[in-house]
Amino acid sequence: MKDKTNACFTGSKFFLCIVAIIAMLTSAIAQKKINPGEVWPDDKGNHIQAHGGGIVKIDKYYYWYGEERRQGMDTGLRYVSCYRSSDLTNWKFMGDALQLPDPEHLGSHWVLERPKVYFNRKTKTYVMYFHLDDARYKLARVGIATSDRPEGPFLYRESFRPLEKESRDIGQFIDDDGTAYLVFESRPTKGFSIAKLSDDYLKVEKEVCLINAPLEGGAIVHYKGLYYAIGSALTGWNPNPNKYATATSLEGPWTEFKDIAAPETKTYGSQSTMMLKVEGTKNTTVIFMADQWKPKTQWDSRYLWMPLQIGDGRLWLPEPKPWSIDIKTGNVQF
Ligand code: DGJ
Repeated sequence: MKDKTNACFTGSKFFLCIVAIIAMLTSAIAQKKINPGEVWPDDKGNHIQAHGGGIVKIDKYYYWYGEERRQGMDTGLRYVSCYRSSDLTNWKFMGDALQLPDPEHLGSHWVLERPKVYFNRKTKTYVMYFHLDDARYKLARVGIATSDRPEGPFLYRESFRPLEKESRDIGQFIDDDGTAYLVFESRPTKGFSIAKLSDDYLKVEKEVCLINAPLEGGAIVHYKGLYYAIGSALTGWNPNPNKYATATSLEGPWTEFKDIAAPETKTYGSQSTMMLKVEGTKNTTVIFMADQWKPKTQWDSRYLWMPLQIGDGRLWLPEPKPWSIDIKTGNVQF
């Protein structure tokens, strides 16, 4: 033991010891578990600000974009944050990917919600969609911003109603063949629309299906030959029992919507924003990503991420508890 200690202080071994100590300290600091509903610190120790968000994987990194609602921001601007991770558990804050002044003269309480970013491999462009609205949610458009870097800065391009329809909450779905879709909620028709994006992702090209259900917070996953769609009821910031339906093709027909958790839990106080599929060497895990909103203290809103019990047409959100994922194998541990 004494010899080993002495070795630490001689020549190049001293350097190796320092490296080992730093590695030990770093892994002690690194977050090991995902703790649903708890404060989720980023690499600087600040609660992650990526509400109503979405994740895209580009090569070895996951990028998480969302509504940046930290305190002390310029109230005239709206912000979209970008975080990066290689394990889905420890997230590095990459900065505000978008800082946007009121782009369509909507007034001081204008709304930017639920940003989602797609990476177009052909044009090498990162394309951000978001829900753009006035304070009364009457504009009902999507906004688009683009960047040539994942962390931005993204530049605003335009806003429009996709396929001339009102669009409020949006969701992102990329199928296994790489085709990109926008999911949007259109209120007069009480519809959950699944629409294909154009090749450059800058236009909403055509509606693939309008599921005739009054749902928002839309999310879709393609798992073992079946499509699963999740949405929440329209109850503002208040939680409600989220529901799911399945179909063998995106065009439908879709089954009736059923509860994803015991209805009295109101989805454990959360609202869906995305389902993320992690295909590992041993398992494919589908993560339910949701927000636990705190409308009066939005910066403190929490995230409920849990691996779903999914397969053979059934989907169930288990009671939240701390868990971890090995993104190489796809295995989950509690
Ligand atoms: C529910 C939506 O899902 C949220 O994104 C937000 O628009 C609130 N409604 C506003 O009440």
